[in-house]
Amino acid sequence: MKILSGIQPSGQLHIGNYFGMMQTMISNMESSELYVFIVDLHALTSVHDRDKLAAGTLEAAADFLALGLDPDKCIFWVQSDVPEVCELTWALSILTPMGLLERCHSYKDKVAKGLAASHGLFSYPVLMAADILLYQADRVPVGKDQKQHLEVARDIAMKFNNQYGDTFVIPEPAISETTATVPGLDGQKMSKSYGNTIPIFSEGKQLKKRVMAIETDATPVDDPKNPDNCNLYQMMNLFATRERMAEINGLYVNGGAAYGYLKLELLDLLNDKFGAARQKKKEYLADPEMLRQILKKGGDKAREKATVTLDLVRERIGLKY
Ligand code: ADP
Ligand code: TRP
Repeated sequence: MKILSGIQPSGQLHIGNYFGMMQTMISNMESSELYVFIVDLHALTSVHDRDKLAAGTLEAAADFLALGLDPDKCIFWVQSDVPEVCELTWALSILTPMGLLERCHSYKDKVAKGLAASHGLFSYPVLMAADILLYQADRVPVGKDQKQHLEVARDIAMKFNNQYGDTFVIPEPAISETTATVPGLDGQKMSKSYGNTIPIFSEGKQLKKRVMAIETDATPVDDPKNPDNCNLYQMMNLFATRERMAEINGLYVNGGAAYGYLKLELLDLLNDKFGAARQKKKEYLADPEMLRQILKKGGDKAREKATVTLDLVRERIGLKY
């Protein structure tokens, strides 16, 4: 089973990224052929400062490694180190209907938020389809926001297979029910671009400030509250044990849930979960050359795999003469 997923180096990685994708990927390291990559070509659609993009790429690599990704047990690389993906994107673009891309929410949302309506942003899902199909991935763990992009990748793969004969594996999305959409401080989806995140590696005062800024309603402590409408409750649910969540649930339903205390408890849980990885991240970042070497080595491995698929595609569409 080939499992593949990518993440944009477009800002500090947050607990939505962790539960939506990173944790699943890391936990599949022993049992699957795992492909993990940092999608810097996709990030170009929103990051136009070259120093920020380059630093973000190394930082995303340090994040994954600090959280336990072992580069000897997977293929871990930077998207732009495998230029074959751009050629495949073009081949797929030819048979991607405009209507399929016009229906994508993500494009419309990003333009509504002020990103320039460029051709690159519009064809973002085709590059993502190429990412997935190039490595013949079976499963793609993502958050719910990427579901439509996975459907686009499947549609393109099926169209290609129908037109040119069986070439691509049809990928399946893997979206966990409980972590499909981690809420942000304001209750919207947590996202780097909404400024509502809890970064995985923030600590000390900065982390406390973030946690205390989780928006809650003004219901008095002793009044009953609906846990389903509370983003603090949803966040606690990601970190607390089942037993503790049963107690907290009781406090919500029967009254007695004090938001301030629960936030401090969440802060402790965050420190317990990510405390050890913080030091490791600092060590990785202190040695950027080592990070580059790990990524280059992964890029070479990825490129070998990519070449096999691209050769087949070239033959299928008539680029081999
Ligand atoms: P962001 O929206 O913060 O820019 P990305 O687009 O880089 O995040 O997402 C990387 C991965 O993390 C994707 O698989 C995405 O679905 C997942 N993800 C992002 N935000 C969340 C969230 N709030 N809840 C669950 N998964 C998420
Ligand atoms: N579009 C994804 C996101 O914004 C990132 C991504 C690019 C990706 N290529 C991918 C995810 C391939 C899974 C598989 O989160």
